[in-house]
Amino acid sequence: MRRQLVMGNWKMNGSRAANEQLVSTFLSLWQSVEGLEVAFAPPAVYLPQVAALLASSKVVLAAQDVSAHVDAGAFTGELSGAMLVDIGCQYAIVGHSERRAYHGESDQQVAAKALACLAIGLTPVICVGESLAQRESDETLAVIGSQLDAVLNVLEPAQLKNIVIAYEPVWAIGTGKTASPEQAQAVHHFIRARLGEQGAVVRLLYGGSVKASNAEELFAQADIDGALVGGAALHAEEFFQICQAAF
Ligand code: G3P
Repeated sequence: MRRQLVMGNWKMNGSRAANEQLVSTFLSLWQSVEGLEVAFAPPAVYLPQVAALLASSKVVLAAQDVSAHVDAGAFTGELSGAMLVDIGCQYAIVGHSERRAYHGESDQQVAAKALACLAIGLTPVICVGESLAQRESDETLAVIGSQLDAVLNVLEPAQLKNIVIAYEPVWAIGTGKTASPEQAQAVHHFIRARLGEQGAVVRLLYGGSVKASNAEELFAQADIDGALVGGAALHAEEFFQICQAAF
């Protein structure tokens, strides 16, 4: 049985005061349960603050990106997996569509970031997803397959049990247009099959306009093991309701 995971990707949002309010309100509502892991991914500059706010809880910390370089060195502005582990991160989101789009991250660079995470014991949350044009031209599975193959080409099969994959259709991110449960399940089923034998244990998250109003029907799908939540994660009560729906 795969443990459900709901992760809030705060993106470039927050302030010390707002973070304090968001985390304290969520923790006042949330009672940790065995079957569900909850993670917060604040902007990197706030990771130490949020780590301290979460210290007495079972909510875990995630980074929104990580360097593909494992060893320290002349990589201005980058954060290594070791640094993220050092300040308490257990997960790192890699290959988010916004980084692929705005920073030109290639499938190969994303795979290298995932490998760098595994080298230091950080769990990569590897984002894949198609654009509206690719979906409308029936290229969804080809695109997702290509993104997955770049990862499968560099990871050993035994390493796959230590990754998480997030399917985030680009056309559903921040748009309010969520994929239907059936659309999401079809892609998750494809992803799980593509992973081969290890696929049964890999957690597959759905991301793209997850809200309290649609979370339950998404989580009811056989191959959806949780969510990567953006906008709704910035509202403690709604994020709490999404977590409630996950178990
Ligand atoms: O990483 C999660 C994010 O891309 C989804 O954003 O606002 O559609 O929940 P949102």
